[in-house]
Amino acid sequence: MRVIILDSAKDVAQFAANTIIDTVNRKMRPTLGLATGSTPIEAYRAAIDAYKANRVSFAQTVTFNLDEYIGIKEEHIQSYRYFMNQHFFSHIDIPLSNTFLPSAASLNEAQLHKNAHQYEEAIKKAGGIDLQLLGIGENGHIGFNEPTSSLRSRTRIKSLSESTIEANKRFFKNGEYQPRLALTMGIETILESRQLLLLATGSKKANAVKDMVEGPLTAMCPASALQLHQDATIVIDSEAADKLV
Ligand code: F6R
Repeated sequence: MRVIILDSAKDVAQFAANTIIDTVNRKMRPTLGLATGSTPIEAYRAAIDAYKANRVSFAQTVTFNLDEYIGIKEEHIQSYRYFMNQHFFSHIDIPLSNTFLPSAASLNEAQLHKNAHQYEEAIKKAGGIDLQLLGIGENGHIGFNEPTSSLRSRTRIKSLSESTIEANKRFFKNGEYQPRLALTMGIETILESRQLLLLATGSKKANAVKDMVEGPLTAMCPASALQLHQDATIVIDSEAADKLV
């Protein structure tokens, strides 16, 4: 695990964008794993700038997002599909048919299990993920693999912890329905990506970053599983690095 501490969130975003661009430019048919949340938004913006400056084309890129809320339709403003279109896909030359998120609109459990299995198959069929972008929850989650998630977990239904629901409240209007379930890649699914790049910025992430980097490997901090990966880079700003020894 490599830890890179940069001065600001802006530097973290630029580093992430450069890593995405390098991967896309190096491969004939690059496969990116992507994340939602506040942290990668600036990285997507920097990657869009690079696309507009002709430094990169995403025409051959295939993407798989980590997770999607259950019971929310793709066109809903709170869906992660909507987020990805809004913050990234609609600004670059990627065909939308090359972009995948777990299919989670259904409330039928058997259907969701089937969709989870098909998502794993689609990743395999695409040849696996070259670069997986990750954020980290304040409780150490990656994707929506909350504390106590099995380190062997695959794409599946996961209930969100109270702390995650609380942390994500900021994205929802007062009284708006907030999902409590998601379909998420599992920890083992994530670890199969050839390269991992986890971003964390701000003091709220400092404890989780410390547990991930310096704590024991434990299901209580799902991000600590990155210690097992041969090519995992953690890029953080000075605030998120504040608790590291
Ligand atoms: C989102 C995801 C989550 C977020 C995490 C941090 O697709 O997988 O694990 O990365 O909750 O979210 P932010 O960046 O909003 O702090």
